[in-house]
Amino acid sequence: MKSSHHFSLQDHNSFNVKAISPTIYFPKTVADLVQLPDLSDKIFYILGDGSNTLFVDYHAPVIIKPDFRGITITETPDSYIVCVGAAENWHHLVCLCIEQGIYGLENLALIPGSVGAAPVQNIGAYGLELSTFCTQVKWFEFSIKKITVLNNKACNFSYRDSIFKQTLHNKGIITEVVFSFPKAWQANVSYAGLSDFSDTPSPKKIMDRVISLREAKLPNPHTLPNAGSFFKNPIVNEQQLKVLKHSYPKIPFYPQGYGLVKLAAGWLIEQAGLKGYRDKGVGVHENQALVLVNYDSEQGEDIVTLARYVQQQVLTKFDVLISPEVRMITTKGEKSFIDLAIYSESK
Ligand code: EPU
Repeated sequence: MKSSHHFSLQDHNSFNVKAISPTIYFPKTVADLVQLPDLSDKIFYILGDGSNTLFVDYHAPVIIKPDFRGITITETPDSYIVCVGAAENWHHLVCLCIEQGIYGLENLALIPGSVGAAPVQNIGAYGLELSTFCTQVKWFEFSIKKITVLNNKACNFSYRDSIFKQTLHNKGIITEVVFSFPKAWQANVSYAGLSDFSDTPSPKKIMDRVISLREAKLPNPHTLPNAGSFFKNPIVNEQQLKVLKHSYPKIPFYPQGYGLVKLAAGWLIEQAGLKGYRDKGVGVHENQALVLVNYDSEQGEDIVTLARYVQQQVLTKFDVLISPEVRMITTKGEKSFIDLAIYSESK
């Protein structure tokens, strides 16, 4: 299996901060995975394309970067079944499906990252989440050194979350993701920005619209390093919404059922006066306040400092806690944002 020591991760994280890993492994077959050293009591991180990862410390832990490739398409009378290696590029998959006349993923066009990372945070945009079409995730479990298959229900998908971030965190590696797309396609144009087509648009038209919406709002990580939405949209109860609506009648909200509503973190950050805010080479993007950008810092810590400031300002103004969706990786492994504060103080 390919591996490397003292490996620079700067080109492998979309924030483009400096970080170095003592050892990185690139398993591309199950045999490679079996050969990995025993990591049960080691600190390590599984890296996809690095578009949702922040290396907080210069010294990163051991990295495993899966290199499983290949896309196979089969069909049943009603559906197309698409099996995709974890290291395939997400947007490439979306384009390939549309070209092949397999429809469903068009709303998820242009999301950066690898296919293997997509189920971990159940990627979503423009009214669609991966969980709608993902039927199976193939998973190499370290403890038994074998591939097991998790069906959609077993993945415990919810908003920006899955079992892979919870009980299965660091217990194994996603090798392949399986999708099923009904041949009877239905346009999903409920989201603002997609609802003004005069006729039912083709999947390609929806994809093109999603691409232009994303390009207008979201900075290209190759020209302005960022990790897309830095924070998750917070979920509050109806009582909290009522209080907020009293002071802010225009607050956008999205009912989630069970008396819960999702708020737009970008709106909260903008209303806190932080859109376009800039300090120490990092800042809040000018067109989409949910995105933190790196103008010219080389240190992940600067982005953490900015994120804390943004979180604090929003909490003070609205009494709503926004939490990062970006994953924070330190020398001592992945940390939640709360644990990261304790960790940073102890350094
Ligand atoms: N808004 C503002 N100011 C801002 C940003 C947004 O007022 O700076 C308002 C918008 O006007 C709108 C609401 O907030 O009323 C929601 O904004 P938008 O539709 O742009 O989406 P979002 O909630 O900010 C989410 C996803 C994005 C995804 C878009 C489109 C999360 C954390 N983010 O953003 O995902 O592209 O919806 O579906 O759920 C990502 O995860 O990296 C990502 C970009």
